[in-house]
Amino acid sequence: MSNNLVTVAYIAASALFILSLGGLANQESARKGNVYGIAGMLLAFVATALSADVTQYGLLTAVIIPGAIIGAIVASRVAMTSMPELVAILHSFVGLAAVLVGIGNYLQVGHGLTGVEETIHQIEIYLGVFIGAVTFTGSIIAFGKLKAIISSKPLMLPARHLLNIAMLVGSVVLGVQFMGVESPDGLKPLLIMTGIAGVLGLHLVAGIGGADMPVVISMLNSYSGWAAAAAGFMLSNDLLIITGALVGSSGAILSYIMCRAMNRSFISVILGGFGEGAGKSSGQSATQVTGEATSIDVEGTVELLNEAKSVIIVPGYGMAVAQAQHGVSDITKILRSRGVNVRFGIHPVAGRLPGHMNVLLAEAKVPYDIVLEMDEINEDFPETDVVLVIGANDTVNPSAMEDPNSPIAGMPVLEVWKSGTVIVMKRSLASGYAGVDNPLFYKENSEMLFGDAKKNIDAILGRLREESSTEKVLATV
Ligand code: TAP
Repeated sequence: MSNNLVTVAYIAASALFILSLGGLANQESARKGNVYGIAGMLLAFVATALSADVTQYGLLTAVIIPGAIIGAIVASRVAMTSMPELVAILHSFVGLAAVLVGIGNYLQVGHGLTGVEETIHQIEIYLGVFIGAVTFTGSIIAFGKLKAIISSKPLMLPARHLLNIAMLVGSVVLGVQFMGVESPDGLKPLLIMTGIAGVLGLHLVAGIGGADMPVVISMLNSYSGWAAAAAGFMLSNDLLIITGALVGSSGAILSYIMCRAMNRSFISVILGGFGEGAGKSSGQSATQVTGEATSIDVEGTVELLNEAKSVIIVPGYGMAVAQAQHGVSDITKILRSRGVNVRFGIHPVAGRLPGHMNVLLAEAKVPYDIVLEMDEINEDFPETDVVLVIGANDTVNPSAMEDPNSPIAGMPVLEVWKSGTVIVMKRSLASGYAGVDNPLFYKENSEMLFGDAKKNIDAILGRLREESSTEKVLATV
């Protein structure tokens, strides 16, 4: 394939990637966005494989075919609840690829660069390897934390910030040494820096608590994008630069949006330490949550739903684990057919990955127009008769607003306790992902419906269906 044709294909692929990002921005167009992304990647792959630079087709086939098969199997088997782990481990591959491309590129002889061009090339290699190594080990730690192989508590080494600064300074000093010598003499400082950057990535992410993992995942997503962009510069591949920049900037924007949703500054997330249960700003401990929770059964829940004119359903991680979304969708249909105003309230970090709840509800065919974001629905709770909280916990925790010493103080939450009655469906009074007790369970208008969310949702659905068929029989008599 001629160079001009490759360039045209790369421009088309870049446009498809931009259309893909635009499509993924909302649920109605997400499917189309995905198709654009797949088409862009296929085009990019075919154009690169057919370009004059690629000659080793045997080797390419030997790595692409097993890679594609493994990728297809892993992606088709992964449960929605394990998606963040998959994303984390895939980021680590991007990081590792950037390290290997950088080192390989440095050792390549005869690239014909001199003067300023060579200096720029060396900076690209050094930065690419640094970002790649941080991304590689950081993503492995994020994977371990999400998979619960490693404790989700932040690792709080004494003088940990100093340690990070020392590693950064060490990397800069090694960078100066690397730049001062001809290839391949700079290999030693390059490899030492790779080791240091690896430890830095490991230490940075180990110091971040479980509750901040969503931000870490999108931050690593951003890093992996910049690592890919750096690899693009090293390989003089424009498409890799554009794609890397798209991933890098969208990951950074997503991290910012998530930080805003949790009322946390990006810097405080990166510096870590959140989620170890200590008081946030004042150094005082969070207020002890006490009281007696009252419970309700399925019959009682159905009675309340029968009397309600407006219902808001607030799903969380527990609904995803229980896979209760299809039953929830059927309950919604029945209630709406009876004229009840049923809507869903979605917290930006509900579940374990951005958009987790939206995807599950879309899969269960819940109409998009009744699925509302936190900001769109928070004011409506006081006029709502019944709120069904299904496997959500941190995202409905009033201590975020009421207890300034709570570790989640200031995080915007769904103000479910302002409604007539809140029914919280979970298996126990245990805390959620952030490990913070929830005073919602002890509020006067709260009722606990204990048990697996799917079992209880199916039982409620069964009762509602029975009632509907009885009503139909009575109507025909
Ligand atoms: P969580 O606070 O994690 O609470 C989920 C609750 O579901 C648990 O307390 C658990 O209580 C219950 N549960 C688990 N399995 C269940 C089952 N089979 N049936 C019924 N209930 C079940 O969930 P959330 O409100 O969605 O908040 C999300 C949390 O995860 C936030 O802290 C957020 O920062 C964090 N996080 C979010 C993301 C993203 S991007 N969304 C990524 C990583 C982490 P029981 O054990 O008592 O049943």
